[in-house]
Amino acid sequence: MTIHDAQSLSLSNLLRPEVRADPYPFYQTLRAQDPVHWDEPMGFWVLTRYADVARAFHDPRFSRAQGLMAGFKRLPAAEQPIAEPVYHAFSQAMPYTDPPHHTRLRALVNKSFTPRVVERMRPCIQRVLDDLLDAAEARGRMDVIGDLAYPLPMVVIAELLGLPVEDRQRFKAWSDDAFAVLGVVRHSPELHAKAARSLADLADYILTLSRERRLRPQEDLLTALATVAEAGDRLTNDELVANVSILLAAGHETTANVIGNGVLALLRNPHQLQKLREAPALAEAAVDEVMRYDNAVQVVYRSTVEEVDLGDKRIGAGQVVNMILGAADRDPQQFSNPDMFDITRAEGRHVGFGLGIHFCVGAPLARLEIQMAYTSLLRRFPALRLAAEPLDWQEHPTFRGLRSLPVAL
Ligand code: HEM
Repeated sequence: MTIHDAQSLSLSNLLRPEVRADPYPFYQTLRAQDPVHWDEPMGFWVLTRYADVARAFHDPRFSRAQGLMAGFKRLPAAEQPIAEPVYHAFSQAMPYTDPPHHTRLRALVNKSFTPRVVERMRPCIQRVLDDLLDAAEARGRMDVIGDLAYPLPMVVIAELLGLPVEDRQRFKAWSDDAFAVLGVVRHSPELHAKAARSLADLADYILTLSRERRLRPQEDLLTALATVAEAGDRLTNDELVANVSILLAAGHETTANVIGNGVLALLRNPHQLQKLREAPALAEAAVDEVMRYDNAVQVVYRSTVEEVDLGDKRIGAGQVVNMILGAADRDPQQFSNPDMFDITRAEGRHVGFGLGIHFCVGAPLARLEIQMAYTSLLRRFPALRLAAEPLDWQEHPTFRGLRSLPVAL
């Protein structure tokens, strides 16, 4: 492969504005030319075929815990001591653990975060949506991202956990600081120091509140997590803090961006929008089609614990492997007409929530929020249309979402 080829297939292209606006042709080139690709400029592997991504999700040789440590080891040596507390905290959270640690944590969280707990949120979600849409109607204009998609998941997860309303801005700021270190391209000692301080504040806050909940239990997820026991096992304080923090953080950007990407897809595909208006029961299927067609989470990663043969390539031990969900979900081997947005599509299973043991624990909650957001928005505003193009996409390398989505009502 020539230097030019190495650069043209590198994931660093995702930082170019025109590729960010529509990464799918780039993914298609990668999948067609080199589906199991060693990205020389970035120093990691990139998978773009559905079958390979699905296989990596199910294969224990692709490790989440080692993936986190690989991120740590890539930091400059001088930065590692500053970043250590942050990585140590993350290493206690479900998404960054492997079995058997993951199996234990997931069992304890599943026992608390049940379908009944999610279903109980329905009236709260509707109330939040109605308030947000009332405010937009009164203003006569709306930015779907800032006025709907961002506030909704934050209020809902805070309400679900039972965190006091007056503290919401504080814990949002702490969790943003803490998670800012994951996925950014340019790290800095300042970023890690800030993340460590915010994590310490968040930990104090969660532990104080958990002690109160053990004394005076409430009908909320924090009480459930603070008191959950399974075969005599409980979450340690570090695990409680890490997993409450992850629940707080993991559902914001993701849910918000899927709401935004979906409203955009519907407005750009008027026939699909019409179908959904005529048959609101299609909202459930529409959410899955949005997640297949234009998901917020474009990339997840693992690190290999031993050598793995994939396609015609041999991936060495200890190497970082990026799985491009957005590419897998547009693989023509898995989905017919993959570039077509079709909310009545009945085939295939997308990987937008992952697969296997790390399958998104918040999927039922996210699905409910997004469905209700689409249904309420379309019911309230029969003449909804795009107000401005070109659109401004975030610069994040692994998330896909708009900075704003102005619509006319
Ligand atoms: C549309 C919104 C969402 C999307 C697109 C999404 C996507 C994902 C994906 C792709 C994974 C698998 C990651 C991997 O295997 O490396 C995942 C896992 C996870 N998600 Fe979500 N997520 C969403 C909403 C949520 C919400 C609302 C919550 C929490 C309230 C949440 C919490 C988690 C957690 C804790 C994990 C790790 C599970 C484990 O390791 O066992 N997510 N999510």
